[in-house]
Amino acid sequence: MSDALLEIKGLRVEFDVPAGRLPAVAGIDLTLGRGEILALVGESGSGKSALSMSLVGLNRGPRAHISGEVLFGGRDLVAAGEKELRDVRGKDIAVVFQDALAALNPTQKVGDQVAEMIRTHRKTTKKAAWARAEELLGEVGIANPRQAARAYPHQLSGGMRQRVMIAIGLANDPSVLIADEPTTALDVTIQAQVLRLLKKLQTEHGTTIVLITHDLGVVAEVADRVAVMYAGRIVEQGTRDEVLFSPQHPYTMALLNSVPRVDGPALDRLPAIAGSPLTGVTRPSGCAFAPRCSFAEDACDSAVPQLLQRYGQSGHLDACLLDEAARRREVAL
Ligand SMILES: Nc1ncnc2c1ncn2[C@@H]1O[C@H](COP(=O)(O)OP(=O)(O)OP(=O)(O)O)[C@@H](O)[C@H]1O
Ligand SMILES: [Mg+2]
Repeated sequence: MSDALLEIKGLRVEFDVPAGRLPAVAGIDLTLGRGEILALVGESGSGKSALSMSLVGLNRGPRAHISGEVLFGGRDLVAAGEKELRDVRGKDIAVVFQDALAALNPTQKVGDQVAEMIRTHRKTTKKAAWARAEELLGEVGIANPRQAARAYPHQLSGGMRQRVMIAIGLANDPSVLIADEPTTALDVTIQAQVLRLLKKLQTEHGTTIVLITHDLGVVAEVADRVAVMYAGRIVEQGTRDEVLFSPQHPYTMALLNSVPRVDGPALDRLPAIAGSPLTGVTRPSGCAFAPRCSFAEDACDSAVPQLLQRYGQSGHLDACLLDEAARRREVAL
């Protein structure tokens, strides 16, 4: 793996909800390598957004309890003050959300919104910032950037708006871009174009990208490494090929099995994982996936399995205490 750019240690994000304290992120250790694309996958509610937002303090508030460390450029962003974080956000670490229409200001021309992001972090004239904004809109693949810059968000298509969001994200050439489901709202062709754009950023600018997605097809296409989340924890992590082609954790196997294969026989079973994910405030004392796991044994209920390298190469980690032979045997049945 390339050298570490950002290190997450023991990160917990809990929210006060009517029923108690909800552990959205329940203790995560993760290292982001410089220039890599890390895909964060997992079902809805597994804590992907809570994790990524907490990296730049976007979910701080009276009901949020965030602890652990996020080490970046010699600083701990969990401990950082609001002013320091504002400086990091957008300049060093940018976040692009799924819903561009909600994230953009409907009353401001998109060129102004890009230019404003530039001027927030850099001393430059309005004119220069506007010129750079047009240039950025071109770089993210908008065909007529001069015209698009003068448009309001509602005058642009969904794909164009998503590119505008990415242009805003890139305005200050951040070292990390967090893209939270950036293509979910888009049709398949546009999705592919946006993904290609992310890949290009990585190769041409060396941008480190955290790509949050439900879509394993997207992962296969662009990710270097994958972290699989379940109920606020990472249950498996490794290179794209390790996770997609030799998954170790039963949850990863189930996720992969839930994807219809284009080259496979027609599906005769429901392409979804049985049972529902854990979302409540109380968590079992053992493995959170055990209630849905077809391989679970009594031992799975006694302690939360740690994320460790159990088999295979270094760097391929999983949090399942069943021995590999048992899992493989069952899969083969
Ligand atoms: N501000 C908040 N207040 C209370 N609960 C929250 C808050 N933000 C997230 N949660 C809860 O934390 C858990 C994790 O949510 P999160 O949004 O991180 O999931 P996700 O993996 O991003 O899901 P999706 O794929 O649907 O976007 C969920 O149970 C969610 O309801
Ligand atoms: Mg989310």
